[in-house]
Amino acid sequence: MVCIVGSFNVDHVWRCETLPMAGQTLHGEYSTGPGGKGFNQAIASARCGVSSHFICALGDDAGAAWARELAAQSHLQLIAKQSVHPTGTAGIWVDARAHNAILISAGANADLDPTFVLQHAAELQGARVVLAQLETPLPSVTQALRLAHGAGALTVLNPAPAPLSHLPSALLEACTVITPNETELARLVPDLDPTADIKALPDAELHALCRRALPQGTVVVTLGDHGCFVSHAQAQLHGDRATHYRAAAYPAQAIDTTGAGDAFNGALCASLAQRSELPFAEHVQWACAYAAFSTEQPGAALSMPDPAAVAQRYGIAFT
Ligand code: RIB
Ligand code: NA
Repeated sequence: MVCIVGSFNVDHVWRCETLPMAGQTLHGEYSTGPGGKGFNQAIASARCGVSSHFICALGDDAGAAWARELAAQSHLQLIAKQSVHPTGTAGIWVDARAHNAILISAGANADLDPTFVLQHAAELQGARVVLAQLETPLPSVTQALRLAHGAGALTVLNPAPAPLSHLPSALLEACTVITPNETELARLVPDLDPTADIKALPDAELHALCRRALPQGTVVVTLGDHGCFVSHAQAQLHGDRATHYRAAAYPAQAIDTTGAGDAFNGALCASLAQRSELPFAEHVQWACAYAAFSTEQPGAALSMPDPAAVAQRYGIAFT
């Protein structure tokens, strides 16, 4: 079982030629759909066919009903705290190159507190893999990963959106794996030159950076259409032979990269839970394929593919 702790947002999306700049008014094509990093990751995990539970906070509104409906359709077990605040929302702009800019308003997500998390300790301690992100309050993320880690679960933190300051050591110490993108990795490593082109660094230097970000665990740096970089602590190879390596991206005709990182995280955790006998590199390969295919579909949660479609597109099966 995978237990995901995190956010649900109603995404309001505008597709436009170029992203609007300060002072500009542009035309775009509007659509709306379910999203939120936590929910997207949970839907991805559930769609991989792995028993998945999602701990979140929702308002009492149409957005919440939407979350419940899609969760039920996707066989995702929803454990939602009822908040007096409106369900979270996100404004998303997607340009002609499939790049996006996002503004979120936490709403109910800010109400996901450590007490509610503690009430669901059984799900966290009974899971094989627990996955969290940073769109819900830090104390509850820390609570969830500490409970899970203490019970021997594999804990994965996707440190997105990029933290504004260094993460508490109590949180990092409870992580088996972290999955930052380049910006997020830069925030996790003190005094790193913020202009450094991380993906262009020689592997040994990137590995050294990752070791500083999470000395005891595995760091998977997602690099968009450059695939990803994996860095293990010497004693924690998770079935791999190499301490560090790159994994190639799968080719995609991207139309919307919103949620691609979420697709990666959900698929990675589903694979880690379901196929624990495989080396880590194979989980990463599955996650890369799954994420690439998600960029060929519009939207966030709704763009999470079925494994069969990924298998057909790239010839890689999830069995
Ligand atoms: O990662 C994509 C997600 O970020 C969107 O669905 C939006 O809700 C924001 O949380
Ligand atoms: Na997508």
